Amino acid sequence: MSELNEKGNQLLQLLSDGEFHSGEKVGELLGVSRTSVNNYIKGLQGIGLDIYKVTGKGYCSAIPLDLLDAEKIKQLSGKDNVHVEQIVDSTNQWLLERIDKIENGQSCISECQLSGRGRRGRTWISPFASHLYFSLYWRFDSGIDKVSGLSLLVGIAVVNSLEKIGIQGAELKWPNDIYYQGKKLAGILIELNAEATEACHCIIGIGLNVRMPPEQAKLIDQPWIDLNQISSDPVNRNLLSATLMKELYSLLAQYEKTGLKPYLSRWFELDCFINKQVNLLIADNVKSGICRGIDEKGALLLDVDGEIEDYIGGEISLRLAN
Ligand code: BTN
Repeated sequence: MSELNEKGNQLLQLLSDGEFHSGEKVGELLGVSRTSVNNYIKGLQGIGLDIYKVTGKGYCSAIPLDLLDAEKIKQLSGKDNVHVEQIVDSTNQWLLERIDKIENGQSCISECQLSGRGRRGRTWISPFASHLYFSLYWRFDSGIDKVSGLSLLVGIAVVNSLEKIGIQGAELKWPNDIYYQGKKLAGILIELNAEATEACHCIIGIGLNVRMPPEQAKLIDQPWIDLNQISSDPVNRNLLSATLMKELYSLLAQYEKTGLKPYLSRWFELDCFINKQVNLLIADNVKSGICRGIDEKGALLLDVDGEIEDYIGGEISLRLAN
């Protein structure tokens, strides 16, 4: 399934105002019985929409829905290769499956993901019209050498974009996370299709919590936060997508030429663990030291009794020491 059917869409548009709509009126609009209305409502609830019923008033979406609009994102970003889906397994997967056909800079953004992927084989909770599920295809002609610092650059692009839409205070946790006051706001998953001597094809996936429905929150086993808790104004996901797209295009083009070097000072500003005592979890081992930021390759610099050790690689996690 990649989109709702016509009646599902009609119902979605109707409920997107966050007002009550009686079962009778909904039935009339869709041209279906009250029982069928109930089934369509269940369909929307099944993809993560928080819709409830009050006797005598009808159905209501718990929040007004700010739906994704490809045309608006194109207009706001000035980029043409924007693809918006309603329902996908994973936006990263959508691009990976088309990697032979798509052009550099192709994006895929979806209202929901049925099998959203996180790091380490985890599931990324992806309810409908709630968060940002954003993937971008970028090809590095110079090969795989740019990959080690890529998630750090993308993290900087995410924080820059948030600042550009008025959200200050987001920080970075090496190597893939965006944090706010000690809670996870967004995560980055980069998937590759690389051959040793040729261009490196990267799918950059970003999941950013915008407004977490209470039912979905129960499924998350780590401290999290969403933009709704941070910002006093509702965040427009079309504007957020477009701002992120522009920022990524700009930083990636620069990064291709220079690598991470010009971005090191920005990383140091945003690093939430800088100069703090941390534990590095490497498989079953724990390495303790003081976090001293990163180097030009994107390696974490750990100060162990005055000696700087550098760590790089996908299966390493960083934790604040107690
Ligand atoms: C993490 O575990 O912190 C990384 C989460 C990355 C989630 C995003 S959502 C868009 C893209 N598509 C996916 O299936 N995963 C990434």
